Amino acid sequence: MPKSKIAGLGYYLPEKIVTNDDLSQVMDTSDEWIQERTGIKERRYAEKHKETTSSMGVKAAEMAIANAGITNEDVDFIIFATLSPDYYFPGSGVLLQRQMNMQGIGALDIRNQCSGFVYGLSIADQFVKTGMYKNVLLVGSEFHSMGLDYSTRGRNVTVIFGDGAGAAIIQPSDGDEAILSTHLHADGTNAEVLSYINPGSHGGAHDPEGQEKYEYPDQEFGGAFITQKMWENEDLYPHMEGPTVFKFAVKKFPEVIMEALQSNGYTIDDLGMLIPHQANLRISQFVQRILGLSDDQVFSNIQKYGNTTAASIPIAFAEAVEQGKIKKGDLVCLAAFGSGFTWASALIRW
Ligand code: ACO
Repeated sequence: MPKSKIAGLGYYLPEKIVTNDDLSQVMDTSDEWIQERTGIKERRYAEKHKETTSSMGVKAAEMAIANAGITNEDVDFIIFATLSPDYYFPGSGVLLQRQMNMQGIGALDIRNQCSGFVYGLSIADQFVKTGMYKNVLLVGSEFHSMGLDYSTRGRNVTVIFGDGAGAAIIQPSDGDEAILSTHLHADGTNAEVLSYINPGSHGGAHDPEGQEKYEYPDQEFGGAFITQKMWENEDLYPHMEGPTVFKFAVKKFPEVIMEALQSNGYTIDDLGMLIPHQANLRISQFVQRILGLSDDQVFSNIQKYGNTTAASIPIAFAEAVEQGKIKKGDLVCLAAFGSGFTWASALIRW
């Protein structure tokens, strides 16, 4: 069976640093609370009206392309993962394509939130292994700061998230480097526990029980995606039931990591580096403890960037390689958990 590999990684972080103290100027929070619960010290915010989700993706993609030793013309397919796209539609994939002059090749947008990069890697892996494409550009990019609630009401969500982008080039491999396997899971039972439901065709108020509650009928036929009532109720922001997310995350992360190792005949001792989705430092530390991993086996950069959802794994992966923490031949596990819930892993021989 032909194999695929990650031939190059790239990342981009906006210049603007927003510290916990900066946030405490606009909402009732503190550096101490945020660091104690999440490990986050600061995050980056993109420059509004200048940068976009796709333009940050372009910068990460350019670095990945250069690191893979190819040119834009060599890319034959684009996969773009984000939950904070430039537009409601079309997706950010075609916008990145336009900026990179790659018109004509396919562009696929995926919406798997924190698992988006690993889902995208799995798709790229299948396309490359079957011989359909030779250079798949996979991008994860998020512009969270545009859509957060900066009042005290939104503090449990807002303090966690930051902006940034990461990218990878996936190519056929004829050496030892390989994507060994990918493992994708989802369970929509708790879909609304971590969600951003408006604007949407549901057209209703946030309802944690998942019951249909059409509270915002605007017109007799159909209705607007965004209604006056939603503005009045301030029902246009992300929603997170933190303790529930924590409970599922610390169960599903270890499961999907072990699934990746065991399905390839490996144990925890064989693992060179775990790159977990940077959800929350406390979640990563919990997972590390449950699995008995050493500090050298788990990479964390959430302290500097916050949670960048679909971008967090490629940014962390690229930084770990850049810092020499992943060496040729190492076994690397990528693992993600997030809204949906969706969770996924990939085992890679670097
Ligand atoms: N600053 C100060 N106080 C706050 C803040 C804040 N930023 N946010 C919430 N609080 C308050 C709440 O209002 C509440 O006050 P109350 O007791 O007076 O009502 C109190 O702190 C506790 O609130 P909880 O939401 O129960 O906070 P918890 O202790 O669970 O911590 C946290 C919240 C850090 C989000 C935690 O639930 C957690 O780690 N959850 C995991 C979810 C997560 O990390 N998600 C990341 C994104 S999702 C993903 O990527 C998978």
